[in-house]
Parts: sequence; C-alpha cells; structure tokens
Amino acid sequence: MKPKVLIGVSGCIAAYKTAEVVSQLVKADINVRVVMTENACRFVTPLTFAALTQQHVLTSIFPDTLTSSKEVIYPHLYPATEADAFVIVPATANIIAKLAHGMGDDIVSCSALALKPDCKRIFCPAMNAQMWSQQVVGENARKLLKLGWHQIGPEVGRMACGTYGAGRLSAPSAITEVILSSVL
Ligand SMILES: Cc1cc2nc3c(=O)[nH]c(=O)nc-3n(C[C@H](O)[C@H](O)[C@H](O)COP(=O)(O)O)c2cc1C
Repeated sequence: MKPKVLIGVSGCIAAYKTAEVVSQLVKADINVRVVMTENACRFVTPLTFAALTQQHVLTSIFPDTLTSSKEVIYPHLYPATEADAFVIVPATANIIAKLAHGMGDDIVSCSALALKPDCKRIFCPAMNAQMWSQQVVGENARKLLKLGWHQIGPEVGRMACGTYGAGRLSAPSAITEVILSSVL
C-alpha cells in the first residue's frame, strides 16, 4: 500500500513552494493529501494542490456539505487519522504556537490533534529573521521537538520581505527527501 502523507499548509509567501514538494511526492508514488489554513488560501489556491494530488483539499474543520461520507462530515479527523507522516510546510510562527499548545481551531492544527501515535510529525518553519529569532517562537519550536516533532530548516538566505537572515524555507527537494526517508 502507498504511504500516506498529509501536508499542512499555513499562511506565508513560501506557501507557493509547497506545490513543488507535493508534486515531487506524487511523482514518487506517495498518496498525498493537503490541508490548508484559511490564511494559506490567501497565498496559494486549494485548486493548485487539488490538481497536483487529484484529491479533495480541506480548508475548514466544518463540512462543506452534509453527506453520508465520513470524510466529508469529519474533516478534522479524516484524512489525519490515517496519515503515516504529517508535514507542515511552510510552518508560520502562528501554527507553530498552536501546535505547541495543542490548539485545534483550524484544519491544520486540528489535524495534528488527530494523528496516530506513530505518525511522523515534521514542521518546516518559514518567516522573517526577526520573527524567527523571537524567544517565544524559539520556545514553541523547541517544545515541538520535545514532543517528538522533527524540524527541517529554516535556512539562512534572502527573504521575500527583502531581509537577509535565518528564516527562509528549506529547499523543496530537501524537504521531499526527508519526507520520503521517513515513510519509505
Ligand atoms: C505578505 C505576508 C507575508 C507573511 N509571511 C509570513 C511568514 O513568512 N511567516 C509567518 O510566520 N507569518 C507570515 N505572515 C503572517 C501570517 O500570515 C499570519 O501570522 C497568519 O495569522 C498566519 O495564519 P496561519 O498560521 O493560520 O496560516 C505573513 C503575512 C503577510 C501579509
């Protein structure tokens, strides 16, 4: 059976790079699903991920329609409960804080609460260097590491906001490589 990878997209410029990660995973014959925060949808459209995965993209914890399908009625549980790996790419300071505190008020944080115990949990931070260097952001990221999450990046480089420093999303190919090695 194909490994199941659930990608969580949160709201920042680097969200466009997630399309490349998803595309590479699909080419590697992984069963990929995507959940997006409402703010992520301001940066990149769910249609991009639906087209790449040929699967429904979830953007809300509440159902779009009422049918007998369990996935439609319980978006906060499915597909999260079945994932072999859950990867937040990119991870905003906001979603990192929510994950570190067990919050579940959007489809990405709620999905994290529904994962099976042995699901691989990975987050890929992306933000302005001053945001990344905030003590509270560092503490939240370290808390996730203590809870068993794996962190990829961020890298040092030039960012969309015009600044240079640590906070740049890791290269899509590097992220894909780690995901593949964790599920294959
Ligand atoms: C143009 C723009 C770029 C942003 N880039 C980032 C970013 O790179 N990292 C980050 O943590 N937040 C960034 N933000 C702020 C987030 O969008 C904001 O914290 C939002 O609440 C995140 O929501 P989410 O975590 O639910 O997706 C940006 C906002 C704007 C308007």
